[in-house]
Amino acid sequence: MTRDGWVLADAFDRAAPTYDAMVALSPGYHDQLATAATALVDRLPRAGADGGPVTVLDLGCGSGASTRAVLDAWARAGRRPSDLNVRGVDASEGMVAQARAKEWPDAVELVVADAVQHLAGLADGSVDGVLGAYLLRNVPDRERLVREVARVLRPGGAFVVHDYSVAGSLRARVAWAAVCHGVIIPLAVLKRSDVPLHRYLYTSVRDFDSVETVCGRLQAAGLVDVRHRSYPGWQDGVVHTVVGSLPDRGSR
Ligand SMILES: C[S@@+](CC[C@H](N)C(=O)[O-])C[C@H]1O[C@@H](n2cnc3c(N)ncnc32)[C@H](O)[C@@H]1O
Repeated sequence: MTRDGWVLADAFDRAAPTYDAMVALSPGYHDQLATAATALVDRLPRAGADGGPVTVLDLGCGSGASTRAVLDAWARAGRRPSDLNVRGVDASEGMVAQARAKEWPDAVELVVADAVQHLAGLADGSVDGVLGAYLLRNVPDRERLVREVARVLRPGGAFVVHDYSVAGSLRARVAWAAVCHGVIIPLAVLKRSDVPLHRYLYTSVRDFDSVETVCGRLQAAGLVDVRHRSYPGWQDGVVHTVVGSLPDRGSR
């Protein structure tokens, strides 16, 4: 819930039918998700914590673009499809309905739930990897989300945060304001998507943590080898991928 009774999950429900068309207009959206998913797969253990398939959570999976990116990155790494389970979790029924309308292998499960509440129901060390693509900014208690991710990760497991962040860079803040007011919000009007959600996109990014703060959150939760990267073009310093790992037992 945000101001004046405006509820984020409801806004995503309204935007769900046009979501894929909107992100198709965003240059680099899918390529950058592919890079983030590859960064996750590169850090995943060879087998799951219980010796079975590797388990990945895609928190805030939306209409499934990030879930698909994980499957594709896994395949590009030459790993067997049967060695991976992915659970997409999203608070918006409408977004999950869009995802469920797509074709998925049996290894993919899609769940309607709040990310923090879903994590709270999982056992310690039960997950091998977590992706949060465009999620963290939307979660009111970010510290709790990161802490819960660190708790459910097994030693050697990995967490990737992929999101917009402009705090601390005047150039990035100006670029973000120009793109939102000049392109994204007008396009939402043209495409009959949810305009308040796209205004929220502007303010939520404007007010989000700096990328250094995001890295610090992961480190404070016990993750190590925390690195971040950005992308070329106007998104340089605006779109970021942050990667961290829980220390392996041997290195603790
Ligand atoms: C911008 S979309 C990104 C979807 C997908 N990860 C992608 O990369 O295309 C953000 C998603 O996060 C979901 N979301 C926001 N807050 C959430 C929360 N607390 N728990 C679960 N999902 C949440 C929204 O419903 C929305 O579908």
